[in-house]
Amino acid sequence: MNPLDQKRTLLISPEKIQKRVLEMGKEISGKYTDKDPIFIGVLNGSFMFMADLLRSISIDCEMDFIKVRSYVGKKSSGTIQLIKDISADVTNRHVILVEDIIDSGHTIQFLMERVNSASPKSVSIATFLIKPDMAKIDFAVDFIGFEIPPEFVVGYGLDYDQKLRHLNGVYSIESDTVV
Ligand code: IMP
Ligand code: MG
Repeated sequence: MNPLDQKRTLLISPEKIQKRVLEMGKEISGKYTDKDPIFIGVLNGSFMFMADLLRSISIDCEMDFIKVRSYVGKKSSGTIQLIKDISADVTNRHVILVEDIIDSGHTIQFLMERVNSASPKSVSIATFLIKPDMAKIDFAVDFIGFEIPPEFVVGYGLDYDQKLRHLNGVYSIESDTVV
């Protein structure tokens, strides 16, 4: 079935998202004053969150992107591929990894290892969404937008087979339509 035709239920409205992202930006700005952090957005999923979050940052900062692939359709492929590495030199810098969603934690674990190998001063994580199943993570997630049930969600950057990223709310796809 075409994913655009699947039944979707609104989980987080655009208004709620904007309010929460603004709060996160304020919190991060407060904690990183005079630290000149570098935000690293994880492509493609974080592009919309990154854009909104960065516009709510009120301190000096820089940004870069990294691109990985872990999902095919609705399933984690298990192996993470690095498609585009960071371009900035993050040695001795305060890094904030910006993710769309943490599910099993495999992807963020991989990203932490990659960033840590570049000897940053600190690394923290800002994720828009988190699902409860985090068994594989042995580090703290510092900034969390929303905790959501273990459902597959789309919109606000999140995709189903590369589609539906453009929606400005978050929707869950009905489990009976899961393929
Ligand atoms: P993890 O490695 O299982 O934590 O999955 C993280 C990555 O899988 C995220 O960066 C997303 O790109 C993707 N992902 C996980 N859950 C969802 C979802 O519900 N909708 C869309 N993408 C998801
Ligand atoms: Mg993705």
